[in-house]
Amino acid sequence: MELIRGAEQMHAAALQARSQGRRIGFVPTMGALHEGHLSLIRIARAQCNWVAVSIFVNPLQFGPNEDLARYPRTFERDCRLLEAEGVQVLFAPTVEEMYPAASKTIVEVQELSQRLCGASRPGHFRGVTTVVAKLFNIVRPEVAVFGQKDAAQVAVIRRMVGDLNFDVQIAVGPIVRDRDGLAMSSRNRYLDAAERKAASVLYRALLRAQQMADRGERSAAVLVEAARSVVAEEPSARLDYIEAVNPETLEPVHDVTGGTLLAIAAYFGATRLIDNVLLFAGNSRAGAG
Ligand code: PAJ
Repeated sequence: MELIRGAEQMHAAALQARSQGRRIGFVPTMGALHEGHLSLIRIARAQCNWVAVSIFVNPLQFGPNEDLARYPRTFERDCRLLEAEGVQVLFAPTVEEMYPAASKTIVEVQELSQRLCGASRPGHFRGVTTVVAKLFNIVRPEVAVFGQKDAAQVAVIRRMVGDLNFDVQIAVGPIVRDRDGLAMSSRNRYLDAAERKAASVLYRALLRAQQMADRGERSAAVLVEAARSVVAEEPSARLDYIEAVNPETLEPVHDVTGGTLLAIAAYFGATRLIDNVLLFAGNSRAGAG
């Protein structure tokens, strides 16, 4: 695996791979890699014969009171994991490389960026779309793989790709979970033992609503309330939001239909975690591919 720090070098390596007829797959990450990230790399590998992964803790997507300074950094271990996955290139730029002092441009998807996590993390999705647009231009992938774990991020990036005519196919990998159902996340490392135990309530809450939907409940308000009452059984959980939304527009729905996204965010101590399920995903196109 080649480690590249410079945007120009990365671009040159990608153009060379393309000129040799390689199909470039790309998985952007912020590092502290876990099985969720690795599952996306395997999806990229299955579709492409040249895979680039980026590790960049993007300051632009963190709010002033968020965890940028203490975001977990496990670079040596990440490199070993990526080697083992057969990744061709790791792009790990510095902040100065990605955001030279002269840079003035941001990329923002309007409206969608204010929904779900965008409502509680102002500026977050603008930071995500700006860095992902830059990474797409640097890496020029044919396929870029994102996780359903961050369902709103997927919606925002798909909209950006459509609106700005990016020549890239977006693939989405399913949520990888720990044995008790907790969605894997780099931020799970922040949890102490009691918080880690409590955090499994998120998935239990989503499952309760999903079961009710499977048995015929169609009212978004009823399903959200059922999920909320499960979270309330865990006194240490502090709910940020639970919402049933259209997975593409992220607008709240009144009645759930195939593919409605039920998304949740809650704090355990100082750590904010998110999770989601697609309702009746079995009978819908959402979540696939
Ligand atoms: P990060 O949180 O490192 O996640 C990188 C990718 O891994 C994202 O597409 C995310 O949805 C996916 N992922 C995380 N946990 C997962 C899980 N349990 N199962 C499946 N996929 C999972 O998301 C970001 O970084 C950043 O916003 C980024 C897109 C890199 C832009 O900075």
